[in-house]
Amino acid sequence: MNQRRTRIYEGKAKILYEGPEPGTVVVHFKDDATAFNAQKKEVIDGKGVINNRISEFIFNKLNAIGIPTHFVKRLNMREQLVREVEIIPLEVVVRNVAAGTLSSRLGIEEGEPLPRTLIEFCYKNDELGDPLVAEEHIMAFGWATPQELDDMMTMAIRINDYLSGLFMGIGIKLVDFKLEFGRLYEGDMVRTVLADEISPDSCRLWDVKTDEKMDKDRFRRDLGGLVEAYQEVARRLGIMNGNEPVERSKPVLVKSD
Ligand code: TMP
Repeated sequence: MNQRRTRIYEGKAKILYEGPEPGTVVVHFKDDATAFNAQKKEVIDGKGVINNRISEFIFNKLNAIGIPTHFVKRLNMREQLVREVEIIPLEVVVRNVAAGTLSSRLGIEEGEPLPRTLIEFCYKNDELGDPLVAEEHIMAFGWATPQELDDMMTMAIRINDYLSGLFMGIGIKLVDFKLEFGRLYEGDMVRTVLADEISPDSCRLWDVKTDEKMDKDRFRRDLGGLVEAYQEVARRLGIMNGNEPVERSKPVLVKSD
């Protein structure tokens, strides 16, 4: 890895570097897993490599159906090239089935199908623990314009329809997921585009037959087997054959005896 390049930002699971051309950024996927606003932390060997591949696959599919995204191309095992955007400070959560904070907040049993798809917004602010907010707050505090809010909701519904079908086709229920959007400046124009990542870190994915969790809840809830579950998602998507060793962060000692 080229250490001389300029680091723009380091988040919990990714590092952003200046890209090769103005207006581009290199995203590096780390193996770090965090939950509950980083109160729980662990390094999970190989997670970054798999998320880089799964997110590449999904963003390419979404680009192909006409969803504008920041994604340009994958560069190597851990990195991808993206267009530079200004992140809209909202997490857009789409839910098909009750789980996680929806279940704890409203007392709905996990696994209960929702009467309709729900879209929720959280204000991206680590100090506040990304609180749930209403459209009222978004408008009043100017976190997004009415046009951006409309763009995000329209894209979120399309992405949900598309990904629900994609995952159902490989025996996986898309329970919920989180999206982030950015402002892409092109001359005088500004466009809302899908940004960040879509991976088992940012989705809840349950096996259709067994309801087994194939996502970051394996880490949040100490279930173990996270890399194996992510690999199985990748394998079913046809990305990795499952036998492929993931790039390990530490060298392996080879005995010469
Ligand atoms: P929640 O039930 O914890 O609110 O999570 C809803 C979805 O959003 C779930 O698929 C996990 C994802 N998510 C993230 O990607 N990042 C986060 O920081 C949180 C809290 C959730």
